[in-house]
Amino acid sequence: MDPISIYADERTKNARDDFTIDQNWDQFTPEEHGTWDILYQRQMECLPGRACDEFINGLKALNLGRGGIPDYEIINKELMKLTGWQVVAVPCLVPDDVFFEHLANRRFPAGNFIRKRNQLDYIQEPDVFHDVFGHVPMLTDSVFADYMEAYGKGGMRALGFDRLKALAALYWYTVEFGLINTPKGMRIYGAGIVSSHNESIFSLEARSPNRIHFDLERVMRTDYCIDDFQQTYFVNASFEELFRATVETDFAPLYERLNPSSDFTPTAAIESDRVYTRGTQEYSRAGGRKRGIKAV
Ligand code: PHE
Ligand code: FE
Repeated sequence: MDPISIYADERTKNARDDFTIDQNWDQFTPEEHGTWDILYQRQMECLPGRACDEFINGLKALNLGRGGIPDYEIINKELMKLTGWQVVAVPCLVPDDVFFEHLANRRFPAGNFIRKRNQLDYIQEPDVFHDVFGHVPMLTDSVFADYMEAYGKGGMRALGFDRLKALAALYWYTVEFGLINTPKGMRIYGAGIVSSHNESIFSLEARSPNRIHFDLERVMRTDYCIDDFQQTYFVNASFEELFRATVETDFAPLYERLNPSSDFTPTAAIESDRVYTRGTQEYSRAGGRKRGIKAV
């Protein structure tokens, strides 16, 4: 979240103090609604059997495939009934404290634009497809919904300890790129994965990345890469396990002993890790996205 690009951005001029804007659903063009449909169809071909049940059930409950970019007035009614969460429109990434404040109040800020047709696979800034298709279905699950609210509250606390980098790593490796080891097999729940066609396959099936059991302190000490597929995925046994390790754990002693910067690189495997798969890292070693390496 880069503050420079926020304040320099023309798009923020109609934003309220909390950075929200009206969704203005009517402003989306037929082509933009069509972009949603293309992305939706493509994910529906690859996510069954790969995404966790909580995600798939959430998609269905909110009917995110009714055609076109969802109208928040409609999906918010359903979401409110299920867990009390709401989606709010924002013009761009918002400052950390604003983001935390929204989450702490069960509001999920979603970028009010959609990627262009020539960027279906990769965009740098989260758009409505990533934010709504990727994040919102999991907010229908009561355990995950509580986790996200607690994360927002925890954000303020991390700022106070000056350990935001560590808390951001937790978000990255769970909310964005988390895997879950269900009785039916390893499944995806992270929004960054479910909203990406290639990473949905790469995260579960490629030989390249590490897959390591979630450990709170290990995760919070780990650096992460924001512009390519992950080199390591962390796996929880259940959302209850994640909840106990985070919501029911006081982070203050942890913040006291953590360094301001990360201790482990994104490719590291350390002695205490419970490793599901030790990755070859062949994808990132070959140069990854920058070099146009085929991942899957
Ligand atoms: N339990 C954390 C704390 O004491 C707050 C938190 C909850 C952080 C859930 C992240 C996720 O600060
Ligand atoms: Fe996201």
